[in-house]
Amino acid sequence: MRKSGLVVLSLSFVAVVAATALVQAQPTRRPGGPPAAGETLSFEQNMKGMGRALRGVKRATRDLSAPDSVKAALTSLQTFQERALGAKATFDEVPMSEHAVREYGEDTEAYHNGFRKHLIEAIEASLELERAIMKKDTDAISKWLDEIEEVEHHSHDEFQTEH
Ligand code: HEM
Repeated sequence: MRKSGLVVLSLSFVAVVAATALVQAQPTRRPGGPPAAGETLSFEQNMKGMGRALRGVKRATRDLSAPDSVKAALTSLQTFQERALGAKATFDEVPMSEHAVREYGEDTEAYHNGFRKHLIEAIEASLELERAIMKKDTDAISKWLDEIEEVEHHSHDEFQTEH
């Protein structure tokens, strides 16, 4: 009797340990946080991520004397860059905008090069912004933030479908 009680007890213990390990193994995903391993984001999710991350950079760079503001700005900027690279890997799922149809017609290679060129510009400007943040150079930070917005507006005019 005592022996079977012990067996039941140790089996329950094993079950609890296994269940805990299983829960811990589940990828946890904070909204807007890094994708879980193996998860791929759609183009639209990457764009939303870029928008959110850019807002984070702007918030953190408003006062770089605040504790941890440089670190927060660089963390958001890293997310922006990762989402921009993700967008570059997924843009062929985007339907062609009216503007792009007028500009590129059937020339898919030229269309894809155009798309890629704008995303490269956004990534390049974000790398310059990263240098400016490291130096806490507020003029350069404003300049590169403006440049990123310029690329955003210009790219959306060209590639985003009008609703
Ligand atoms: C530079 C910074 C950029 C930011 C912050 C940004 C942000 C965004 C955001 C917030 C959306 C709306 C997503 C939604 O709610 O549906 C969006 C959509 C879109 N963006 Fe960007 N974007 C940027 C650059 C670009 C570039 C460089 C391109 C193309 C070369 C681009 C092409 C598009 C397209 C095609 C959509 C529509 C996606 C859809 O509806 O599926 N964006 N972007």
